[in-house]
Amino acid sequence: MSYPASTSLATTAPLSLPWSAAPAAPADSAGFDSEMIQVARLLWPGPQSIEPVAGGLFNRVLKVSSPAGTHYLKRFTEVALSGDFPPLPTRAAQRCVVACSWHDLASRACVMQATRQATRQTTRPATAQPLNVPALVAIQSEYDIVAMDAAAGAPLHERLKSEPGDKAADAAALELPLRSIARWLGRLHALPLQPRNPLLAASRPFKAFKIELQYIRLLDELPSPLHRAARAFIDDYLTLEAEPVHGDLNSRNLLVDADHRVSVIDFEQGHFGEGSYDLAYLLSEYAIRALNHDRDPLPIVARAWDHYGSARLPADPLAWQRRLHLHLAFQCLYRLVGPTRAVWTGHLDEPAGRRVREWSLGMLERLL
Ligand SMILES: Nc1ncnc2c1ncn2[C@@H]1O[C@H](COP(=O)(O)OP(=O)(O)OP(=O)(O)O)[C@@H](O)[C@H]1O
Ligand SMILES: [Mg+2]
Repeated sequence: MSYPASTSLATTAPLSLPWSAAPAAPADSAGFDSEMIQVARLLWPGPQSIEPVAGGLFNRVLKVSSPAGTHYLKRFTEVALSGDFPPLPTRAAQRCVVACSWHDLASRACVMQATRQATRQTTRPATAQPLNVPALVAIQSEYDIVAMDAAAGAPLHERLKSEPGDKAADAAALELPLRSIARWLGRLHALPLQPRNPLLAASRPFKAFKIELQYIRLLDELPSPLHRAARAFIDDYLTLEAEPVHGDLNSRNLLVDADHRVSVIDFEQGHFGEGSYDLAYLLSEYAIRALNHDRDPLPIVARAWDHYGSARLPADPLAWQRRLHLHLAFQCLYRLVGPTRAVWTGHLDEPAGRRVREWSLGMLERLL
């Protein structure tokens, strides 16, 4: 089936492709995939310049520049293309459906955030820029390909890895984005996502896969008296399915422009869980930055929680914050020892790495 993205998001006419379903074409050595190129030709006018984007683990991404502007095509693949990852538990088609559903949900949360701010601006000046989600232009589901607008800006990752500047510059570069992301998350996690049962079925196996990698495999890093309580915390997370979460809210999936406006991308790890998981995901990078520079991470965690709570106050804020800190401790440790550690903590020296480990283990010791 070929169809345009939902009418609220679509910016082009319905996509109609002239071929029938077939196995995914392999990419050539330069990363070009002939079916993706055909989709690009159908969607946008020529002349086109097409560039593969490096680094996708479970997908291929192409950047397409044409007289219609810059767009991205993403194709989900059946197996990880690189890295030490075990086989994926969901088909490319399932991840494509998840990506589109969560992408749409994320856009709705942006609209709500923007509407709320526009109302408030009549009484006081804006305090945080609303988030942006690039429009989904088309979905080609036989080939598990989605097309979207380009988001402006550079990855937040670059700001998080930079050396600290003066206080005001850091506040603008790092805290303004955090503030708008936390408020947007508060809205996202409170939205209903339908059809729930098919989306649960499409996303649950990947959630379990990810939690195995990010949490269960870390148990060996913890002192054995903590294992039982840690396992109980993890099992709780696997059964919690109330809230739709982004699932991969790292700083490479957040692009920030010169006005500190943030765009979010990369939705295929969306799942039903609890909101504190997402906030901890991003905060783990802020905490690692603080620890790298020998600062206490807790003040920025507290500020992020305040922003989140200003958009959506959880029913039991104390229990929510306890779980936020537990997720945070696991996720900091994961970034220190997991298979992608070079990306997240490869720039830390040995004493900074030790601080991350000790801080995380100390948190687990206190809260489990
Ligand atoms: N809509 C977009 N606007 C701007 N840049 C984009 C867009 N989509 C993808 N990119 C660029 O392509 C890169 C890879 O895309 P994406 O994050 O969706 O794929 P990924 O394979 O999941 O990547 P990773 O595993 O690194 O998270 C992004 O980090 C970003 O630089
Ligand atoms: Mg990504």
